[in-house]
Amino acid sequence: MILIFLGPPGSGKGTISEKMVQNHNFKHISTGDIFRKTISNGTPLGIKVKQIINSGNLVDDKTTWEVAKDALEKFDLNSENIILDGYPRNIDQSFFLEKWLKEQSITNLKEIYFEISKDVIIKRLTSRMVCDKCGRTYNKLTLKPKIEWKCDDDNSELIQRKDDREENVKVRLETYEKVTAPLIKYFTQKNNLIVVKGDDDAESIISKILKSI
Ligand code: AP5
Repeated sequence: MILIFLGPPGSGKGTISEKMVQNHNFKHISTGDIFRKTISNGTPLGIKVKQIINSGNLVDDKTTWEVAKDALEKFDLNSENIILDGYPRNIDQSFFLEKWLKEQSITNLKEIYFEISKDVIIKRLTSRMVCDKCGRTYNKLTLKPKIEWKCDDDNSELIQRKDDREENVKVRLETYEKVTAPLIKYFTQKNNLIVVKGDDDAESIISKILKSI
């Protein structure tokens, strides 16, 4: 089964994915995580996308589809449970994915929408910290590490993502409203979009997802 996690920046897609990987045997593909890894490794792709991502804009559809397809091909989509987090992010990207899945005869696809208010998003993102090494997510207000600015898992430095600066969060939210939010209507008409409240506690969100799929 493939679960598509759709929602604005900071709605909790990564946090819920992390927990479903740990506790419910899901695999996680995040195009954002893959891009950040290419940036920190200084690969040609990383150099190409660095400025776009840090400023809060979207990477072009062709590049993003290559990254998503490459990641999907690493799994057995007939037997494994996959979370696709951050892809598709517009209608065209959804067409690429649907066409490709049809060619692979994969039909078990569910879309989960993380609904959340703008105020909560801004508060969350400007207080988010992530581990520079493993990518684990923390929050200065709600999910503090045991030692300040150190990852509980590997003791590496925690950083603030450049795209989490308030001015870049605003760009991301505008882009989301304009480009990504139309997918809500598209998925609602096409399938039965599962809606969760992104500001519920994580265990309630996961329980609702597991009951709905
Ligand atoms: P990406 O990494 O996908 O960023 P995003 O969609 O903006 O999502 P975030 O990672 O910011 O938020 P999240 O929903 O995962 O929230 P989180 O769980 O961390 O993409 C980054 C960039 O890559 C894009 O801007 C774009 O440039 C590029 N890109 C990626 N995919 C692309 C595509 N398909 N096309 C084009 N470009 C693409 O939570 C946030 C905070 O809230 C954390 O501190 C967390 O602790 C806290 N929190 C989460 N859930 C809860 C909860 N239930 N209760 C309390 N606190 C919570």
